[in-house]
Amino acid sequence: MEIKTDFLIIGSGIAGLSLGLKLSSLGTVAIVTKRDIKESATFYAQGGISAVMGEDDSFEDHIEDTIRAGIGLCRGETVKKVVSEGPARIRELVGMGADFSRDSSGAFDLGKEGGHTKRRIIHAADITGREVMSALVGAVRDKKNISIYEQSMAVDLITTSKFAKDQGENSCIGAYILDKKEKRVDTFIAKATVIATGGAGKVYRFTSNPDVANGDGIAMAYRAGASVANMEFFQFHPTCLYHREAKSFLISEALRGEGAILKLKKGKKFMANYHPMKELAPRDIVARAIDSELKKTGDDCVFLDISMRDPDFIIKRFPNIYEKCLDLGIDITKEAIPVVPAAHYLCGGVVTDLEGRSDIDRLYVCGESASTGMHGANRLASNSLLECLVFAELIYQNINKGNIADKEEPVDVPAWNPGRAVDSDESVIVSQNWDEIRRLMQNYVGIVRTDKRLERAKRRIELIQGEIAEYYWDFIVTSDLLELRNIATVAELIIRSAMTRKESRGLHYNLDHPDIDDKNWKKDVVLKL
Ligand code: FAD
Ligand code: SIN
Repeated sequence: MEIKTDFLIIGSGIAGLSLGLKLSSLGTVAIVTKRDIKESATFYAQGGISAVMGEDDSFEDHIEDTIRAGIGLCRGETVKKVVSEGPARIRELVGMGADFSRDSSGAFDLGKEGGHTKRRIIHAADITGREVMSALVGAVRDKKNISIYEQSMAVDLITTSKFAKDQGENSCIGAYILDKKEKRVDTFIAKATVIATGGAGKVYRFTSNPDVANGDGIAMAYRAGASVANMEFFQFHPTCLYHREAKSFLISEALRGEGAILKLKKGKKFMANYHPMKELAPRDIVARAIDSELKKTGDDCVFLDISMRDPDFIIKRFPNIYEKCLDLGIDITKEAIPVVPAAHYLCGGVVTDLEGRSDIDRLYVCGESASTGMHGANRLASNSLLECLVFAELIYQNINKGNIADKEEPVDVPAWNPGRAVDSDESVIVSQNWDEIRRLMQNYVGIVRTDKRLERAKRRIELIQGEIAEYYWDFIVTSDLLELRNIATVAELIIRSAMTRKESRGLHYNLDHPDIDDKNWKKDVVLKL
């Protein structure tokens, strides 16, 4: 089937939905999403959205905190723009019905998180993502010219360089989309295409991310010829619940903002040995401190203790975390929570300018898939949802002022090439390769890296990619197969970027190059096919 729309948005997290809403005033919008509309990292966000709303806060302070965490690699103009537009974007969400927590005077109850020098996290208890998604999904469903395609997975972008080399610059004119229910690949043609597919936590064995986070959009854009940057900066969240029955459950940094202390098994505190801000040091430092303590002690986890706070306060402020832990037999008002670091947020992604444009004409990237210059070598907590909201507005403004509506539709766009498409019973190959990639990334390309481990990871990923290339065009296309190909590409990009950066900075820590080297490496690592 061929489907024509003005704007094609791939992904239905905060980035895709907030941009879709805005673009619906300019034309028809198709939002495709590979599971149901709510399934996204956004839905699981706990801590909140950072924005300057407190009386003792200022844009300058938020900008300074963001740039300090990014260790020399933030783009100043991006940070300035995102921070200064934050309050307007929060008001927009409130206008859509998002009900954020407030204090007794009716003002926002501002939370505190690592690396922030002020209280500036707007939140809805510890279920901020759920609240934001409810508001956005409600608003999107009300718009007549937005069509939502659930269970629809983008396979590849359609770019003119692939089929119309004589049409000048490489333009993106849509994407091939797998209709998972009908098992059919459709051709979506659009005047502008937006990647809003989120992050790639599933590249690691232990992650806070939901199953949809496979880096699909980054891999697709890279295959289409877009530049990708800073993939070596993968943020590990210091505190994910360590429990055999809990898959990917985060224990929000907001607990540390409210006084929770990290301890070893026998109760010894350790963060003062690593940073003067202790538990509220930037994430890379807290995650590395825990990793180092675990390696020294041989323990499986450390413990996060908030039981010194009043039980009523804990239950009201962290109802979701309280319930989840209680279900697993941990009463957080009385005892410490077992936690480990887990892959959480990809700071790198597809390179965009300050209007969300990639270096492929008519291809925009919004949200965690993008590398906008906001986060540099380490993201400050709760700056991600903020970046998504602000860039949705910037992309909208760019499209609104441009002449995209007049773009000519290309003729004779080729339908999807299904290859040999044999229905194979060899799905074991796919699951084996999946498993290998996630383990090798965890063990060799995790919180602490070495040249030797990276070298080994590179050899292995090349081997696995060779195997995938051998069978990819033989099999009927399925979401598992597509995700495997994408995760392998993302793993390769992370490994190559990590090998290129011969220093330690922010989230990239290599024991063979333990120091920061501003002279040679105060710059992005950019990869292009
Ligand atoms: P997502 O919300 O992940 O949405 C991506 C969408 O793309 C999904 O709908 C997905 O199904 C779809 N998709 C992916 N691939 C395809 C494909 N091939 N075809 C079609 N659709 C596809 N950040 C903060 O600022 N504050 C927080 O408190 C916070 N808490 C977090 C807690 C958790 C547990 C996690 C995992 C992350 C948290 N983050 C937080 C990070 C933040 O949630 C994400 O960076 C942000 O939500 C990303 O939004 P997005 O719209 O870019 O992507
Ligand atoms: C958290 O609640 O700890 C997550 C916040 C974030 O990742 O920004």
